[in-house]
Amino acid sequence: MTILITGATGLIGNELVKLLLSKNHSVHFLTTSLSKIENKPNCQGFYWNPEQSKIDENCIYGVDVIVHLAGANIAKRWTNNYKQEIIESRTLSSELLYNLVKKKPNQVKQFISASGTAIYPESFDTVYDETATATEDSFLSNVVKKWEESASRFQVLGLKVCKLRTGIVLSNAGGALPEMVKPIKMGFGAAMGNGKQIQSWIHINDLVAMYLFAIENQIEGVYNAVTPHPISNQELTTVIAKTLKKPLFLPNIPQFVMKLLLGEMSYLLFSSKNLSAQKIMDNGFQFQFPEIKQAIADLYS
Ligand SMILES: NC(=O)c1ccc[n+]([C@@H]2O[C@H](COP(=O)([O-])OP(=O)(O)OC[C@H]3O[C@@H](n4cnc5c(N)ncnc54)[C@H](OP(=O)(O)O)[C@@H]3O)[C@@H](O)[C@H]2O)c1
Repeated sequence: MTILITGATGLIGNELVKLLLSKNHSVHFLTTSLSKIENKPNCQGFYWNPEQSKIDENCIYGVDVIVHLAGANIAKRWTNNYKQEIIESRTLSSELLYNLVKKKPNQVKQFISASGTAIYPESFDTVYDETATATEDSFLSNVVKKWEESASRFQVLGLKVCKLRTGIVLSNAGGALPEMVKPIKMGFGAAMGNGKQIQSWIHINDLVAMYLFAIENQIEGVYNAVTPHPISNQELTTVIAKTLKKPLFLPNIPQFVMKLLLGEMSYLLFSSKNLSAQKIMDNGFQFQFPEIKQAIADLYS
């Protein structure tokens, strides 16, 4: 199959492209940076600029599936301007793709969008699955709602739409994990707040395997892209320290300190999301790294 990927140059996209090419799929990717455009066998880059509604329309030629990963990184200070960018980089880009699919003759059958877990209510004991109707009232939750609405529009064009509500992606190449590992390596590691907040995480290999699974099985609907074994922040911090053979002797970092340092973005460290992975498993997906100890050992041993 030929898969058009947005955000292919990011943490998840990079790994996904490698996996798809290794399975003999062809990749087209859209990038906002001209300097990142490369043309390798089976992997062609195209320029777009969603803010200016610019897109190289040749990107759609021969494409069977679109995977939409593009979006401004949420781990930067949430100023009002940046909040707008977080939303529009996801929704305007989706709209640009929608208009292209609508306008140009094509053979696209499926649209898969990254999504987030922030849409779910805060939870410690209650495990939420994709049937949950209660949502959280937060900035990120509203981002996810708009993002998913923009993906759902592709159904009008007759496409299968799949949304992967992705938890904290564990990778040693970027994202949250290296930021947690750094202070622990230096001997200054500590859990956040009371450490009880539940982290629904996923190993990067499992996440990209889930995208491949979604493509090859043409699945549609909303799926949680999280491990079946979420853990508390305290447990995660402890497993990292044990794997790195480093002590944890400092008291936990109080929430108000991180709020002072990071502002509203400190939400990312303290929100608690206890989510189910049952739906994707019932569809036949098997995790390679369901348990945190194996996942951290794979990335940092
Ligand atoms: N990593 C996680 O833990 C995690 C968890 C849940 C959900 N997600 C979501 O999954 C998607 C991919 O995550 P990631 O970790 O791979 O992200 P990433 O490393 O930050 O990469 C995102 C890519 O999006 C493109 N991009 C950035 N700003 C943009 C803008 N203003 N307009 C259009 N494109 C822009 C960039 O590609 P170009 O420079 O090539 O244009 C960038 O490489 C994101 O939407 C993210 O929110 C990630």
